[in-house]
Amino acid sequence: MKLSKRLQTVANLVDGKRVIDVGCDHGYLSIYLTQHKIKCLATDISSECILKALDNFKTHNVEINTIVTDGLKNIDVSNYDTTIISGMGTHTILKILSNKELTDTLIISSNNNLKILRQEVVKLGFYIDNEVYVKENNQKYVVIKFKKGSQEYNDLDYIVGPILKKNNKYIDDYVKDCQSIIDKINDKNNDKVKYYLNIIEQLKSN
Ligand SMILES: C[S@@+](CC[C@H](N)C(=O)[O-])C[C@H]1O[C@@H](n2cnc3c(N)ncnc32)[C@H](O)[C@@H]1O
Repeated sequence: MKLSKRLQTVANLVDGKRVIDVGCDHGYLSIYLTQHKIKCLATDISSECILKALDNFKTHNVEINTIVTDGLKNIDVSNYDTTIISGMGTHTILKILSNKELTDTLIISSNNNLKILRQEVVKLGFYIDNEVYVKENNQKYVVIKFKKGSQEYNDLDYIVGPILKKNNKYIDDYVKDCQSIIDKINDKNNDKVKYYLNIIEQLKSN
């Protein structure tokens, strides 16, 4: 199975053997992982997606367990070491992670609000083990691997990521995005302008 650059980045971060692929949609990631000897449970809230995934499993000649469910509901999480949630927003991801039991590793790629995502997942008893920045078709993606445990972070770590803050390509793009938000606001005393200018300053002195 040939994955997109984004999904390949997610797959490369897997270091476990038993994965829950939450919101599997087409099921491509589960197919790839199964072909690489990783046991998968492919889940989705949409039965149509699961039917589409089952079709793809047949085409690729792989057997993968599936369940139609909201997040981690009705799943015995103790049978798995890794949960993957990719291609959803932070609000939905955090709702899924409010499940009473979680796997030791979480691999998450959110479409938005990465600061809130990092802060809230750390509050759940995880630290940031790895972060990867990937660009595909002019879209920017961040994939974060969390592991159970604790580590201290400052505000800048939550905003840009403790690992990505050392990634020049990511920081260059991040500063450009901040600058383009600032450029669109006429009132330079605006709180949003001050907020982003402050981040740029912190990144330059980091
Ligand atoms: C944009 S697709 C991403 C698919 C795949 N994970 C990827 O990264 O390419 C989002 C998928 O998440 C599913 N989804 C949304 N909310 C969900 C939830 N609460 N529980 C399970 N699946 C959900 C949607 O039905 C959809 O198939």
